Amino acid sequence: MAYYHRLGKIPPKRHTQFRQPDGSLYKEELVSSKGFSGIYSNLYHIYNPNSVRSIGTPKPFDWKIAEGHGLNQTHLKTAGVETTGEDYLSARRMLMKNNDVMMGICSPKRRKMDSYFKNADGDELIYIHDGKGVLYSQFGKLEVEKGDYVVIPRTTIYRFEFEEEGPLRLLIIESHGPIETVKRYRNEVGQLLEHSPYCERDIRPPHELHIEEEKGEYLVQIKKQGVLHQYSYDHSPLDIVGWDGYLYPYALSIYDFEPITGRIHQPPPVHQTFQAWGFVICSFVPRLFDYHPLAIPAPYNHSNIDSDEVLYYAEGEFMSRKGIDRGSFTIHMGGLPHGPHPGTVEKSIGAKSTEEYAVMLDTFRPLQITTDALEFVDKDYPMSWTED
Ligand SMILES: [Fe+2]
Repeated sequence: MAYYHRLGKIPPKRHTQFRQPDGSLYKEELVSSKGFSGIYSNLYHIYNPNSVRSIGTPKPFDWKIAEGHGLNQTHLKTAGVETTGEDYLSARRMLMKNNDVMMGICSPKRRKMDSYFKNADGDELIYIHDGKGVLYSQFGKLEVEKGDYVVIPRTTIYRFEFEEEGPLRLLIIESHGPIETVKRYRNEVGQLLEHSPYCERDIRPPHELHIEEEKGEYLVQIKKQGVLHQYSYDHSPLDIVGWDGYLYPYALSIYDFEPITGRIHQPPPVHQTFQAWGFVICSFVPRLFDYHPLAIPAPYNHSNIDSDEVLYYAEGEFMSRKGIDRGSFTIHMGGLPHGPHPGTVEKSIGAKSTEEYAVMLDTFRPLQITTDALEFVDKDYPMSWTED
């Protein structure tokens, strides 16, 4: 993350003796990214983080590509989905993927996780479409709610507790590379610049430690190479008495993203919110439309010659699309032009503002849909621009 944060007790000097009340040493753990060249944090454990009690049978945790979907503009209708499975992990239904990123939905029936999870394959970006809860991790407690992007760096051990009331709907993105703030919005020491659509004040790190000291049996499910490994310990992984550094989970609300507008139509990079290897994430939020007297607020047709563009429609009426619901995904594949639906261009003229919210994933390598996505495919979508 872009700024330094610390919680709890840490010794004045790193890699020095730091003792518990009984005189034994706290166990220091460096969690570093990009080898030793990226951001990192130092964590201080009560117990030895390596003391594994048992290793259970691994479970497959991967999604198969749907063969033969071909070059099609794609609409996945997931609006009607109420639950996608029993718990936070088994309810994950990843709908599209390439070697850089996977994206899908998760609406678990059980709101509280009864084991811990560590994603060792990639960083996670969880967009809370519906729901409210607490992320308990080694870095402390973080309250999350509807509209939040929750960035969880790989190897963070965590569990969610969501409230029982109301719908729970999560959009899940797993990234092979680190998920970062946008480089062009940072100065040379990493501070977000004045023209950034959000700044450090909008970023919410864990604010208080959550220390689980009691011994017992604690299961950590570790995702590595598409498998969920079952690791049991006799202590909780949330045994951290203090940490400091730049690497930690945090939340950023889409409601705190300040839109950039102009006299004529602004291109998608103005909506960019995060970057990673091989893709970007953008946020479409309520904003004033273009104010040139002859402006056309609807976007123009365009050929994304070297990227696939996915829009997840979160709230409001999307002015350039017809037949799209809250919870729809559209995938506009590189190699075909795409643009507003018939009638929406004229209709947009004179409109002053939009109330839409959407999350966009643009990848630089082709995406493929998974077999889990097949039941949601809207077969009429590829022809939906054609007027009779
Ligand atoms: Fe586009």
